[in-house]
Amino acid sequence: MLVLSGKEVATKVRSEVQQECTRFKQETGHIPCLAVVLVGDDPASTTYVASKGKACEEMGFDHRDYRLPADTTEDHIVQLVEQLNADPLVDGILVQLPLPAHLSEKRITNTIRDDKDVDGLHPINIGRLLLGDPSFVACTPAGVMRILDHYQIETSGKEVVVVGRSNIVGKPMAALLMQKGRDATVTICHSRTADVGEHTRKADILVAAIGKPLAITADMVKEGAVVIDVGINRVEDASRKRGYRLVGDVDYDAVAPLSSAITPVPGGIGPMTIAMLMENTLIAAKMHV
Ligand code: GUN
Repeated sequence: MLVLSGKEVATKVRSEVQQECTRFKQETGHIPCLAVVLVGDDPASTTYVASKGKACEEMGFDHRDYRLPADTTEDHIVQLVEQLNADPLVDGILVQLPLPAHLSEKRITNTIRDDKDVDGLHPINIGRLLLGDPSFVACTPAGVMRILDHYQIETSGKEVVVVGRSNIVGKPMAALLMQKGRDATVTICHSRTADVGEHTRKADILVAAIGKPLAITADMVKEGAVVIDVGINRVEDASRKRGYRLVGDVDYDAVAPLSSAITPVPGGIGPMTIAMLMENTLIAAKMHV
């Protein structure tokens, strides 16, 4: 069994982006800049946003963080996004999800200019992906593809089962895998699938993006499968100083021995998401000069 180290691949991607950024800045005088908007103080989101800022600094990017109270109005956020859209110094805009319940994720992500949508969530970018001509691709599924490429895991003709149908992971993941050139046979399972295990047991490559700790158990996995765990769940753990530990959507200890390759949590897909965000931000900056 091979452990697919997102941490290692992410380090490689970050170092490539950093080098390319140095070259780009010398050539153009433009500094790539990512604006991150965080509404409310969800602890996991706060941690992610801090990591994104740190990564920008490592790349040599500028970044702007907008931290808004949980009761901020939708109009206020839309106005902020419109300001960032119009600002020539800002290349990428990311509104951290999930948003508080009173805010329309759809209205806000639709406001982001498609050439600044480094999250790949704007309808134009989702449409381009579906049509086989992707521009910005959502960072987590892009990170999964990069890991498969790095470890030369073949997708052509494989049965791939994606568990989860979110706009940010499940749907773009399926679109990427079924693309010409990737050529996987893709099944998507979700919360209303009658028997998830019946599908997952057929998977050559299984992608778990459910958001539920340890939801994929050993009896749901075919021997020799490649298992990609997108979940990052906090579970209480009094033995840890911070009071919790991170676990994936896959019961790693039980599933790893069955699999031919598997991503751990932490150190798997999580670091890839940020690395791909850095790559997307540099691509955006190149579009803007
Ligand atoms: N929340 C969890 N992952 C992501 C992500 O990739 N982008 C945004 N905007 N919010 C997230």
